[in-house]
Amino acid sequence: MKLLKILTQAAGPSGNEERIRDVIINEVKPYADEITIDPLGNLIVRKKGPGKKLMLDAHMDEIGIIVTYIEEDGLLRFSNLGGLMLNTVISQRVRFLSGVSGSVYKEMNGESELKLSEMYIDIGAESREEAEKLVSVGDVAVFEGAFDEKGNRIVSKALDNRAGCYVLIEALKKVKEPKNDLYFVFSVSEELGLRGAKTAPFNVRPDYAVAVDVTRTGDLPGKTKMAVKLGEGACIKVKDSSVLCHPYMKAKMVEAAEKRSIPYQMEVLESGGTDTGAIQHAIGGVPSGCISLPTRYIHTPSEMVDKRDLDAAVALMSAIIEDGCE
Ligand code: CO
Ligand code: ZN
Repeated sequence: MKLLKILTQAAGPSGNEERIRDVIINEVKPYADEITIDPLGNLIVRKKGPGKKLMLDAHMDEIGIIVTYIEEDGLLRFSNLGGLMLNTVISQRVRFLSGVSGSVYKEMNGESELKLSEMYIDIGAESREEAEKLVSVGDVAVFEGAFDEKGNRIVSKALDNRAGCYVLIEALKKVKEPKNDLYFVFSVSEELGLRGAKTAPFNVRPDYAVAVDVTRTGDLPGKTKMAVKLGEGACIKVKDSSVLCHPYMKAKMVEAAEKRSIPYQMEVLESGGTDTGAIQHAIGGVPSGCISLPTRYIHTPSEMVDKRDLDAAVALMSAIIEDGCE
């Protein structure tokens, strides 16, 4: 789990993926035939094969914050990069790319509804002048969330979607003589609306695609019904709000899992989209599927996944690559 720890702890808020991209490049270099970075920053790692083009995608950005205004007293006003869960951000630590750290607060007076506009970040500065020496409007930060292993469970920030990046990297390492021409794409700005995945297919021109991302679970008290549980295997996506996965890819994935007894669960995510939707609806249409990782507490600094699901996801991705798409 050393690689996953490194991946989760690297900073890469949407639009600022340079650091996490460098970490991934370093890891995939020995296994790649070609590495390119496209105009928007998507990392495209090719493993040559004779058949049609198969694109495998995981977004590498994470949620974060962006400074909008610096108060006279040195406190920072901010906006969200991606879907912040407001009830989980108060008193959390954030770290800017420069290394400056701060904490998110809001004046708590009773049970008022949480609004981002009432929150601020305290970096310890005593005046605007002092704060401006440390940060500028437009600077970005990510939440801090250390990597912990507890039995089969892993807790960390940014498991959305470094867990997906991990699956792609591990699958790439296992590739031998692929049937398809493989393009492993680590995309940018998914959390801002699948932005990298909207453009990457025009550079790759894939015939088929499989994305990997996290999904919710239905195994917590008081939650809406969802037939996904932590530890029960990789998910084969049927639907989310961005896509109805292509029947060809869905069938391929089920067959690959069945053939090798890889534990899997069928997933219908009622709210939330993935790169899968952007890719399937790009160019003239790219039949796409998605492997999802059951994840608790998504978009908090303490997301949780299960090692057995990660192993199953790597096995399933490797199986799809081995079987090939014709
Ligand atoms: Co996300
Ligand atoms: Zn994600």
